[in-house]
Amino acid sequence: MKKKIGSLQECQKLAVSFAKTLAEGDVVVLSGDLGAGKTTFTQFVLRSLGVKEVVNSPTFSILKSYNGKFRFEHIDAYRINTDEALNIGLDELLSKKDRVFFIEWAENIAPLIPKKRISVRITHLGETEREFEIIHE
Ligand SMILES: Nc1ncnc2c1ncn2[C@@H]1O[C@H](COP(=O)(O)OP(=O)(O)O)[C@@H](O)[C@H]1O
Ligand SMILES: [Mg+2]
Repeated sequence: MKKKIGSLQECQKLAVSFAKTLAEGDVVVLSGDLGAGKTTFTQFVLRSLGVKEVVNSPTFSILKSYNGKFRFEHIDAYRINTDEALNIGLDELLSKKDRVFFIEWAENIAPLIPKKRISVRITHLGETEREFEIIHE
């Protein structure tokens, strides 16, 4: 599925409909440049699935967990590599099937990412314009 959006509000709409397709055990891999909207899209999805806490970028903490309709793990691997991910036990966390994962910069820890994933590729087209491509792999 490919979709062009022109505003944050449309990003939220897309996130709400995407959220309805999620099930326990899903791994959502978000890709796109810095500022593309990976964290923003994740925020909208989690909020629509009952997360009341503020969802912000886990770049510095690497991992943040939330409870809503599912237990969510939001991982930002921007600052780490596979060895560091193994040191903090991300491989074990990623083997858990009772939650839904959102992973930014998954390419940095590629060997640890399950093959069965939902890829959300975001292309930054303009100030508020984005193209989303969502692929079930
Ligand atoms: N249509 C849009 N979709 C997503 N983000 C948008 C959109 N328009 C503007 N933005 C803004 O772009 C920025 C995206 O930042 P962020 O989600 O942190 O990106 P990333 O996590 O990919 O680095 C936010 O400030 C957000 O408000
Ligand atoms: Mg981010």
